[in-house]
Amino acid sequence: MRTADQLKIKLFMDGAEIESIRAAIASMPHIKGFTTNPTLMRKAGVKDYAAFAKEAISVVKGLSISFEVFSDEFFEMEREARIIHSWGPNASVKIPITNTRAESSIPLIRHLSADGIPLNITAIMTNDQVRAVGQALHPDIPSIVSVFAGRIADAGLDPVPLMRQAAEILRDRPKAELLWASPREVLNIVQAEETGCKIITATKDILAKLPLLGRDLTEYSLDTVKMFYNDAAAAGYKI
Ligand code: E4P
Repeated sequence: MRTADQLKIKLFMDGAEIESIRAAIASMPHIKGFTTNPTLMRKAGVKDYAAFAKEAISVVKGLSISFEVFSDEFFEMEREARIIHSWGPNASVKIPITNTRAESSIPLIRHLSADGIPLNITAIMTNDQVRAVGQALHPDIPSIVSVFAGRIADAGLDPVPLMRQAAEILRDRPKAELLWASPREVLNIVQAEETGCKIITATKDILAKLPLLGRDLTEYSLDTVKMFYNDAAAAGYKI
């Protein structure tokens, strides 16, 4: 069993708290990039999108960081994308696979990628979408293809075969990195690596469990027994 240090897949942190991003940069050398989304930003209390993004870009010291457009109109998404891109070469522009009317973002993706803008295509859940994105992305422009494996699992489906097929679809697009978004448990990091994903983005709660990766199970069992014993003692339980 691999430990965190032996992983080949790139680990990104998913979140929108500046202090967590700063802490990851200071003390988690295995974090190779960051992702955000409007939901995470709202949850973190971000009020000023551009101010947050610019501060985050300065904190991550050149590592990849993704920021999502939020308009529902493609011409406006394009405007937002170009502004996000202007903030730094390491800022990837997240484009959802459709707008809220289920209209495809593929023409916009093709257009922005042809203009050399690094994109992160988000909210993908089918391999028809992966195929269309793979064909739309410019082969020379670094891009991220975010398949929402965690939500696929939330829907009661095993994301592993789908992710393996997605990796196969993108095989001839080496600049389009398949990203597993996002693990519900540490096991998913191992699965993401085994299915051929290049990146996995995880919240700080999952990243905090990384030292468990590859633990000896006999030791882990004993630690668990000790935890129960110590908590019962600390609580002063008596029967
Ligand atoms: C990825 O970039 C997304 O921000 C993230 O993985 C979404 O994950 P969720 O399905 O837990 O919301």
